[in-house]
Amino acid sequence: MRGDVVRVCFVCLGNICRSPTAEAVFRAHVERAGLASRFEIDSAGTGDWHAGELAHPRTRATAEERGVAITHRARQFARADFARFDWVLAMDRANVQALHGLAPDDASRAKVHLFRAWEPDAPQLPEVPDPYYSGQFELVFEICERASAGLLAHLREAHGL
Ligand code: 4NP
Repeated sequence: MRGDVVRVCFVCLGNICRSPTAEAVFRAHVERAGLASRFEIDSAGTGDWHAGELAHPRTRATAEERGVAITHRARQFARADFARFDWVLAMDRANVQALHGLAPDDASRAKVHLFRAWEPDAPQLPEVPDPYYSGQFELVFEICERASAGLLAHLREAHGL
């Protein structure tokens, strides 16, 4: 781990719905805890179809209505990102598989976890459902709130913050 900063990257498929929501919601939790200077927070997609785009309009509107601004521009997760981040938080098992396939070594592979892994009372299969076709944008936001609380508690303990 370099310096005091904990580097976290949230990853989904397109980087326009789930992971930008997770990034912004987790950042809000970190800021409320007074820990903004201790974290670097980003997001990326395993695919590149939406690179350069703002998040989906409904993703942005759902977050904005709940007091969270999403300004991220989509980008594809690159192999070099494994060196840049300490924690790579995937939204679903397909993302985990894609990231494992891209990881250059076992240490990189060990950085990959499901985002919902530390969410209290998470379902048995702790994935964030893809809202791109289902339209479940509000559900995604609510899951990101609960999972961010659990993740921040875990990272505070793991890093002595
Ligand atoms: P995300 O949602 O992975 O949560 O950003 C999707 C966005 C775009 C596509 C699929 C899922 N797509 O097929 O373009």
